[in-house]
Amino acid sequence: MIVTAIVPAAGLGLRLQSRTPKPLVPLGAKPILIHTLEALSKERRIHHILIAVAKKNWDGFKAVLRSNKIGNRVTLVLGGKTRRESVEHCLSFVSPESDRVLIHDAVRPFIPASLLKALLQKAEKNPAVICGVPVKATIKQATSHVSAVTRNLTVAKTLPRDRLWEIQTPQVFEKDLLRKAYARCKDNAVTDDAALVEKLGVKVRIVRGEYCNIKITTPEDLVFAKAIMDAGYV
Ligand code: C5P
Repeated sequence: MIVTAIVPAAGLGLRLQSRTPKPLVPLGAKPILIHTLEALSKERRIHHILIAVAKKNWDGFKAVLRSNKIGNRVTLVLGGKTRRESVEHCLSFVSPESDRVLIHDAVRPFIPASLLKALLQKAEKNPAVICGVPVKATIKQATSHVSAVTRNLTVAKTLPRDRLWEIQTPQVFEKDLLRKAYARCKDNAVTDDAALVEKLGVKVRIVRGEYCNIKITTPEDLVFAKAIMDAGYV
């Protein structure tokens, strides 16, 4: 199995309220992105890593890769206007010899090596494999979009928790399948690659992930991330 990893990092990270692009925010001794790249680089089946970067952050990312001695297995790719476009650009750079594509959030620095192995093992026999953890909270769907400012926020329905999984990355796909899924679906609001594959009617397998594999999105996530590191979970 020859795997190319795609790391979408071309967002503006507004929710972290930081002027530094979110993946370049320090976590301990190095930027979040470097933790992520080091974790991915330890997996021998990952031959190449493509990082989607916004034009205005290009030089900053280049400098961070250079100063952290990240080698030639990592290539920067110009991102698009949406996550979907950024991944699509990266897909056109995946080498012909790669048969699988792994997608991973730049700001999920704590990928357990055992989880990466379990995902890739499952991907030997399955075209689409994702990871996630059972949802701990009760999830309700509201009648309006989360960004809507409304005084009468109302419950539409409560989803039964016993079948709910909070989906994380890494996600692993057969390269041709993922390309087909992207070619078919032009919905720029998509936030999850597996959702595109599901639309093709392909079975997506779930591997149980770990709660420490957090995505650093808001300022308090940085506090949780430091606690995870200090407690020696990774
Ligand atoms: O906004 P959200 O956290 O869901 O973004 C998911 C990922 O997609 C982030 O890592 C972000 O950098 C990336 N992204 C991208 N290109 C964009 C917008 C977001 O690579 N144009």
